[in-house]
Amino acid sequence: MQQRKLGNSGLEVSAIGLGCMGLSFGFGPAVDKQEGIALIRAAVERGVTFFDTAEIYGPFTNEELVGEALSPFRKQVVIATKFGFKIDPNTGKQSGLDSRPAHIKEVVEGSLKRLRTDSIDLLYQHRVDPEVPIEDVAGAVKELIQQGKVKHFGLSEAGVKTIRRAHAVQPVAALQSEHSLFWREPEIEVLPTLEELGIGFVPFSPLGKGFLTGKIDENTTFDSSDFRNIVPRFTPEARKANLAIVDLLRTIAQEKKVTPAQIAIAWLLAHKPWIVPIPGTTKLHRLEENLGAATVELSSHDLREIENAVSKITIQGARYPEHLQKMVGR
Ligand SMILES: NC(=O)c1ccc[n+]([C@@H]2O[C@H](COP(=O)([O-])OP(=O)(O)OC[C@H]3O[C@@H](n4cnc5c(N)ncnc54)[C@H](OP(=O)(O)O)[C@@H]3O)[C@@H](O)[C@H]2O)c1
Repeated sequence: MQQRKLGNSGLEVSAIGLGCMGLSFGFGPAVDKQEGIALIRAAVERGVTFFDTAEIYGPFTNEELVGEALSPFRKQVVIATKFGFKIDPNTGKQSGLDSRPAHIKEVVEGSLKRLRTDSIDLLYQHRVDPEVPIEDVAGAVKELIQQGKVKHFGLSEAGVKTIRRAHAVQPVAALQSEHSLFWREPEIEVLPTLEELGIGFVPFSPLGKGFLTGKIDENTTFDSSDFRNIVPRFTPEARKANLAIVDLLRTIAQEKKVTPAQIAIAWLLAHKPWIVPIPGTTKLHRLEENLGAATVELSSHDLREIENAVSKITIQGARYPEHLQKMVGR
């Protein structure tokens, strides 16, 4: 697997990482623990060195899974996790944001234990907390870096003003935000700002939460606990309309003798060499398919053709329900 550098941070990772969330959270019931461990270790065997988790995934159980799976390979891999929610430790119930410095430090102690490590390679603020100035958040992470408990600082779904303010206090290694042919807003303001500041970009939901793979249509049903049930973009009507983008991916994939998922990931990789997508899957054959995207080359002609076709398609439905949309882009 090729390596990529996340901006000027010096953090080098495999060109494609593994998003581990779905093994425990978000898309229906958690997978069996041993199966989850096997999947993560299969990724290591195939050259993946970048693993994404968060305190809130589970909560707690995804970090535990990632920690157990990666403990034999700890020195070979980069583990990224996230803080920023208020979570009841007993019930696991989430009740809003909490990026107060004292809380960040508490969360990091828990994450270190669950991840079975003495240092977190990349620590993101999961969502910008309007109650806590970003300078205080960056200052808290800076102290954790000075103490050796954290190696690099990241932000998730932050707006450009926040990115600049945070970066002035503690250099930001990477921003993680949604980006794919299903959600292109970062291209307007965020990516140029990251390039200017030398910050890496980690697109999450690079497969549009599965939609861009062509395996979901208006007849697909999701488990009752699946987050996509409350996403406007995933109503049956929106899915039906949005199949236009999948048709486009399918056409290009057929020409190149690859799959739509591979085109979706290759499209992200083709943007800039400091972009590292983190597709998630619970299945080995899909992991292999997704990693195969690292060798799919899209020429500037291909990219222009995609751009041209995409410009004629309007994606239907918001990417988040209103209460979650309020938390992004701040
Ligand atoms: N920072 C944030 O706020 C944030 C938010 C969301 C996600 N994330 C991170 O980003 C990672 C990836 O995002 P995501 O999981 O939301 O979305 P994604 O990677 O775009 O899609 C994952 C979904 O696609 C399916 N899938 C994966 N590969 C496939 C393939 N080749 N063919 C068909 N279906 C496929 C998976 O199902 P199967 O398991 O059945 O394959 C899963 O339902 C997460 O794991 C998490 O670490 C971060």
